[in-house]
Amino acid sequence: MFTNQTVIITGAGRGIGAAAARIFGEQGAAVVVNDLNAEPAEETAHAIIQAGGRAIAVPGSVTDPAFPEALMRAAADAFGSIHILVNNAGYTWDGMIHKMTDEQWQAILDVHATAPFRMIRAVAPFLREPAQAEKEAGQPFGNRCVVNVSSTSGLHGNIGQGNYATGKMGVVGLTKTIAKEWGYLGIRCNAVAFGYIDTRLTRTKEVQEEAIEVGGQEIVLGIPQKVRALLDANIEQRIPLGRAATPEEAAGGIVLMASPMARYITGHVLEVTGGMGI
Ligand SMILES: NC(=O)c1ccc[n+]([C@@H]2O[C@H](COP(=O)([O-])OP(=O)(O)OC[C@H]3O[C@@H](n4cnc5c(N)ncnc54)[C@H](O)[C@@H]3O)[C@@H](O)[C@H]2O)c1
Repeated sequence: MFTNQTVIITGAGRGIGAAAARIFGEQGAAVVVNDLNAEPAEETAHAIIQAGGRAIAVPGSVTDPAFPEALMRAAADAFGSIHILVNNAGYTWDGMIHKMTDEQWQAILDVHATAPFRMIRAVAPFLREPAQAEKEAGQPFGNRCVVNVSSTSGLHGNIGQGNYATGKMGVVGLTKTIAKEWGYLGIRCNAVAFGYIDTRLTRTKEVQEEAIEVGGQEIVLGIPQKVRALLDANIEQRIPLGRAATPEEAAGGIVLMASPMARYITGHVLEVTGGMGI
């Protein structure tokens, strides 16, 4: 489905991003695997290559202002062109709004709103220039798009996630704006808003002992046991499909929006929630 296409996925060392990278690889794309942590990025790229696909790992932080351009250059050097950008990298740093620090607020806006903006600006020439050339030659447009990862926390708000909800709703506004700005070149931009996906972001904090280092500070990942218990209580009543999604099921939503089958879909927010909140 993605033969001769190059896809860049941020935060693809684990979780939903890694699952999406593997599916894109299976479906014929050349995959550029970014992650903050080099080792899991290399592992994802290696797994794609082992399965007969093409991939490179480009570790680095999406919040480093110089990184987006370096990432695009690395992708173009390796595979010649870029067709799809998936802004997936992220984490949560929860706190009630009346106790939230400026640092906590800013870090989450940096990764969920500013980084996608800089990535999209950096990928612009790689998507727009070939599309412009096709337009001038009167040729049909190739499949080029951006997929931004949002969340039901952004669409509906969520207790303890004022910073995250703001970033994840911000990226929806960005998505719709890019759809309007680049649509005349056939370049699509959609968002995928996930509900409850089983990754280290939704597992129990006290049990899994996962952390991310941001600005020299260690932020513990996951959710408190009592919140997880609330998520799992009466799950069949809250989620029509009755369970959390696997990372692969979540990644399916990203691949769907990136695929040529979605070529007339732009500016859309696809909720991948098992029906939660309908
Ligand atoms: N898990 C859920 O239920 C859920 C729900 C809604 C939205 N999301 C979103 O889905 C996306 C993927 O999350 P996940 O659940 O797979 O989590 P995850 O922790 O399994 O994977 C996220 C990856 O992003 C990487 N990352 C974090 N900051 C980065 C940075 N600055 N630069 C580069 N890479 C960075 C991490 O190292 C990690 O490998 C995130 O944007 C998250 O907010 C997840």
